[in-house]
Amino acid sequence: MFDQAVHHPVLLEKVLELLVWKGDGLYIDCTVGEGGHSEGILKLLSPGGRLIGVDKDKEVLAIAEQRLKSFSGRRELLAADFKQLPEILKAKKIAQVDGVLVDLGLSSYQLASPRRGFSFMADGPLDMRFDTSSGETAEELINLRSQGELAKILRQFGEERWANRIARAIVQHRKKERISRTSELRDIITRVVPTSPPYRIHPATRTFQALRIAVNRELEGLREFILSSAPLLAKGGRFIILSYHSLEDRIVKEAFRSLSGRCICPPSLPECRCGAKNILRILTSKPIRPSPEEIEENPPCRSARLRVGERI
Ligand SMILES: C[S@@+](CC[C@H](N)C(=O)[O-])C[C@H]1O[C@@H](n2cnc3c(N)ncnc32)[C@H](O)[C@@H]1O
Repeated sequence: MFDQAVHHPVLLEKVLELLVWKGDGLYIDCTVGEGGHSEGILKLLSPGGRLIGVDKDKEVLAIAEQRLKSFSGRRELLAADFKQLPEILKAKKIAQVDGVLVDLGLSSYQLASPRRGFSFMADGPLDMRFDTSSGETAEELINLRSQGELAKILRQFGEERWANRIARAIVQHRKKERISRTSELRDIITRVVPTSPPYRIHPATRTFQALRIAVNRELEGLREFILSSAPLLAKGGRFIILSYHSLEDRIVKEAFRSLSGRCICPPSLPECRCGAKNILRILTSKPIRPSPEEIEENPPCRSARLRVGERI
């Protein structure tokens, strides 16, 4: 098994094979993380090829900066939200790109840093923000939202069957004292979720995932981002999205469908409102999944689903 503190780019070979079709092209890695996929892309490009890497997290960008040092003339790294891609490219006067990669979720570095609060495996502050300079932390969310809101978050983003029970326990606990550490939250959950070891997954897994998705508003604006970025691809350019959650994958699937000309509006609507356009050919009728060997070597990739569209 790999060292889990180092991020291993998921489905790397497949991503490179599908994404890099033009050696001197311009590629966007929307979630550069520790730079694993970006490094693979840059290695394949000819001297005329370029990469723009984006990430919300300045800490991981610093790691990518080091990793991609030898390519410094051919890549640019930006601390930004990828959902702003059309604006970012407009400001740089870039009208077209040859490929866009989005690898959603969080990196192993983030998960392994107790200070960031993403993991229940080590004690740390309940932060969970990708961009630590702004926005609501997990601590604020847990201590301020109503029981109903918390349960909804856990159900929707964590598919947690014990959502009500966990939300009730959180609210009862915070009446006595504020919940501010990952270990406190983990212990509250393990006390109320009926499970006995050996667990397939730890009982706190789904709650921590749900909170991370809520804190970073990961699903918000994802569809709009896909619809507004696909037109920026040059003919033949590929849009590749790796998702790790069924709701995320559904958004990607439906946005790609709209872009391939299939209207997904309910029949009751008098006119199309889903933004259906025929500009993308879907290359993955079913998502590509990691092989059992990759999952065995790198368990966090087990839920990955890769979808690809090609600009026509
Ligand atoms: C799975 S990791 C990417 C790993 C990367 N592909 C590699 O091989 O090292 C996902 C990254 O996306 C970043 N991220 C998540 N949402 C983002 C957003 N809306 N805008 C920019 N970056 C985001 C996270 O900070 C994290 O570093």
